[in-house]
Amino acid sequence: MKRLRSITTLAGATVLTLGLAACGGGSNGGDGDDDLTTIGFVAVGPEGAWREANETNIQDTFTEDEGFDLKFAPATNMDQKSQIDAFTSFVDEGVDMILLSATEGSGWESSLERAQEAEIPVILIDRGIEPDDTDLYETRIAPDNIEVANSVADWAIEEFPDGANYVTLEGPAGVSVVNERNEGFDETMEGESDFEQVDSQTANWSTEEAKSVFETMLKSNNNDIQFVFAQNDEMGLGAVQAVEEAGLTPGEDVKIATIDGTSSALEALVDGDLSFVAEYNPIFSDTALDAVNKVLDGEDLDSYIIVESATFDSPEAAEEALTDRDF
Ligand code: AHR
Repeated sequence: MKRLRSITTLAGATVLTLGLAACGGGSNGGDGDDDLTTIGFVAVGPEGAWREANETNIQDTFTEDEGFDLKFAPATNMDQKSQIDAFTSFVDEGVDMILLSATEGSGWESSLERAQEAEIPVILIDRGIEPDDTDLYETRIAPDNIEVANSVADWAIEEFPDGANYVTLEGPAGVSVVNERNEGFDETMEGESDFEQVDSQTANWSTEEAKSVFETMLKSNNNDIQFVFAQNDEMGLGAVQAVEEAGLTPGEDVKIATIDGTSSALEALVDGDLSFVAEYNPIFSDTALDAVNKVLDGEDLDSYIIVESATFDSPEAAEEALTDRDF
């Protein structure tokens, strides 16, 4: 996968917003106000704290005041068919651009080809497509899942100098970020012979599922698990509950690392229940606005625009981050 650069967002967006208001936006393929640029947002919909933060951020930015008519189409129960149907209607409607957060990585070729034939540019938000044919879309905007997962493994290697038995709680099968996070974690763990992955299962981004999945893992391994790599915060918090249920102490008997960086996870890090949190920054609408306007102006973009993310490895770091967190 090509990973080319990250963007400093703040300054660019302010200038851009002003610019946009002045020029009055692109042609209007849909109904309503001709000055507005119509954007179809094929979104994931309700899925947890991270998703809500990301999709609210996008909707709060692409407003009529900014010259946009954003048509928000969340999936029905994360079902890909509902996304493909929404995508198809946007192409038939002739919107000016499509933003896509795919619930599944594969199965998008023909939809993206149809958009291309209709000269409707597509920007991927967070999620990638598989196979990753970068000719089928303008750019993907997201934090770097491989590097974020690298940071979790780096932390574990330092935290457990004598190694550990560990498990991975994965997101849903077939989702690009799940594969990328496994790739990043495994590539850093490679050669670490004192570490043994005793199990790896999906818990579908869910606290409840993660609790029951990890309870079973603890039982079937006689509680001989020292580390959990949870691919998102909600699943990490479920693992905390399972540890307590087993009469063990989270942060001592079992150390849990998560990805996302939502307030609930940072609070659990302050309390010592979680031990490491790698942020997967959901707030990048300014970067998306910058990219959309560059595409509208006919500019070519890098195929992957990386959003900066942080890591938190102590209660103090989490406490500080919580002072200005709104997700
Ligand atoms: O695609 C990003 C992932 O989707 C987040 O890490 C997870 O919380 C969300 O549901």
